[in-house]
Amino acid sequence: MSAPVTIRIEPSGESFACGPGETILRAGLAAGLAMPYECASGSCSSCKGTLLEGRTESRWPEAAGLNERDRRKGDRILCCQSLPQGECVVKVRLAQVEGAREEPRPAAIAATVEVLERLVPGVIFFRCRPERPVPFLPGQFVLLEVPGGQRRAYSMANTRPETLDFIVKEKPGGHGSRYLFEDLAAGDALRLEGPYGRAYLRVPAARPMVCIAGGSGLAPMLSVVEGAMALPAPPPVMLFFGANSAGELFMVDEMRALAAAHERFSLTLVVRDGAPGAVTGLVGDVALAAMEELEECDLYMAGPPGLIDATLRPAMRSGKVAPGRIFFDRFL
Ligand SMILES: Cc1cc2nc3c(=O)[nH]c(=O)nc-3n(C[C@H](O)[C@H](O)[C@H](O)COP(=O)(O)OP(=O)(O)OC[C@H]3O[C@@H](n4cnc5c(N)ncnc54)[C@H](O)[C@@H]3O)c2cc1C
Ligand code: FES
Repeated sequence: MSAPVTIRIEPSGESFACGPGETILRAGLAAGLAMPYECASGSCSSCKGTLLEGRTESRWPEAAGLNERDRRKGDRILCCQSLPQGECVVKVRLAQVEGAREEPRPAAIAATVEVLERLVPGVIFFRCRPERPVPFLPGQFVLLEVPGGQRRAYSMANTRPETLDFIVKEKPGGHGSRYLFEDLAAGDALRLEGPYGRAYLRVPAARPMVCIAGGSGLAPMLSVVEGAMALPAPPPVMLFFGANSAGELFMVDEMRALAAAHERFSLTLVVRDGAPGAVTGLVGDVALAAMEELEECDLYMAGPPGLIDATLRPAMRSGKVAPGRIFFDRFL
């Protein structure tokens, strides 16, 4: 396909142009539609739709976001993986997310790695400079192209559009991890796509914000905290950062400096195996216990799916989170 094609969404009836190499998700968001999605990388199935007319190819045919039943039906597609091969009509229910049509619109981004450092074994920080500033909302992520054309989601750890900071935890045997941990170096060119993500900072009411980060889930939480502290009247922000052992904690001095500079920001380190200066336990449990002391809060979470899933239900049942005010990214 070498020219844009028209995609129509049903039942809303809205249409948009999808360019060569663009997914239906990206083109729909770029056109200002409230396309439903979460991971943008084929694993969660939130963007699943039915192809009513036309033909698509998948960036990742085996994507976990489609189950066996979907595949048997033959007409189920993941909008985040689907490259149209001509005009298409797709049935998908648009998201009912307030402000979705005003979110920054995703596009291709060329960037250069400026800084790369190892924070602790198995965790790197890198900063890259996009060719043009990339406005994004605190807590959003981009897709990074890895060798072979696959894409992996990584969240920005900062808020300024001129440089994008990332914190990545190595997944042993992972394709993206191998590239980032063995090959990536300062000066390398990167191909990114974004920004994406709906777990971004909402302008808070006066109620406190509770932020829970597991491992490299710290990246979007740092962005959310930085964004909140820059507000004209920041709410109280409580960050809970969890790790399995003391050796897995990172950026602690930077966060302590932030806490010293902002009296509305507090940091609690939580280490499963125990560590000096940290609460012993699971970060989700410690944060939920702290929420008991609050009247009501906004809740932000990022990190391993197990942490998010174990914390979500008790948080909803606690009656401590304001309605519709839980925002999270599962690092699938
Ligand atoms: C919204 C979001 C934000 C994230 N932010 C961060 C972050 O800031 N820091 C961080 O460390 N991690 C983050 N992750 C997790 C990250 O995207 C990777 O899943 C993780 O780093 C492991 O990638 P890998 O390539 O090393 O492992 P792999 O096992 O090779 O791949 C893991 C993931 O890649 C995708 N995938 C696998 N095979 C294919 C394929 N053939 N084609 C296309 N996609 C494929 C799937 O989504 C799979 O879950 C985030 C994930 C999501 C969904
Ligand atoms: S958004 Fe497409 S599978 Fe998650």
